[in-house]
Amino acid sequence: MAPQISPSILSADFANLGADVERVADAADWVHVDVMDNHFVPNLTLGLPVVEALLKSSRLPLDCHLMIEDPDRWAPAYAEAGAGSVTIHAEAARAPVRTLRAIRAAGARASLGINPGTAVETYADLLGEVDMLLLMTVEPGFGGQRFLDMVLPKVRRARQLIRDAGKPVWLQVDGGVSAETIERCAEAGADVFVAGSAVYNADDPAEAVRKLRAQAEAATADADWS
Ligand code: DX5
Ligand code: ZN
Repeated sequence: MAPQISPSILSADFANLGADVERVADAADWVHVDVMDNHFVPNLTLGLPVVEALLKSSRLPLDCHLMIEDPDRWAPAYAEAGAGSVTIHAEAARAPVRTLRAIRAAGARASLGINPGTAVETYADLLGEVDMLLLMTVEPGFGGQRFLDMVLPKVRRARQLIRDAGKPVWLQVDGGVSAETIERCAEAGADVFVAGSAVYNADDPAEAVRKLRAQAEAATADADWS
């Protein structure tokens, strides 16, 4: 699959979310929406009412990343509301198979998120249940953190697991993805790139998205999954 860019509105202006989504609408593939509940991560952002409002105004599909303690209870509602993709965290889900199936049944792409310290191999048996794996390349909770190079071997191993499974699972990286790090991620096997501060701290967010995409495309031109 060609590389896709999903700008995170965590670094956008929360008083003008609709307008900030529109700024990247012609350049990006998705809008990444970080839902944080102050329990799974030490930060509180937004929930379903704000997602519902964004769904009405956004021209891009929403890529909802749920960093919440009880995704089994809350995730299906994001899919039912119309999110294009819903990510639940492996560390939080108690019934991931049931919840991932509920997300798919509601018409969204189902995705499993994995923190930097969590092994991906544990979840190999779930590859048939997901449309995307999200590998965190920072500890979740905040934008603008430094990219963790230690996750790159896991990106490679995840790409190999996906290859072995023969499933069309996208591989997303999230955290510290920028002009300095996106090529390393792409070479390791990622094909969906979340970027918050690298997009919204730029003078021209749409241009930042286009540049990131060009870098990812160049880095994966010869890859067997691109
Ligand atoms: C962090 C969030 C990320 C965050 C990325 O927990 O999941 O989506 O917005 O921000 P940057 O790209 O600035 O690291
Ligand atoms: Zn995120």
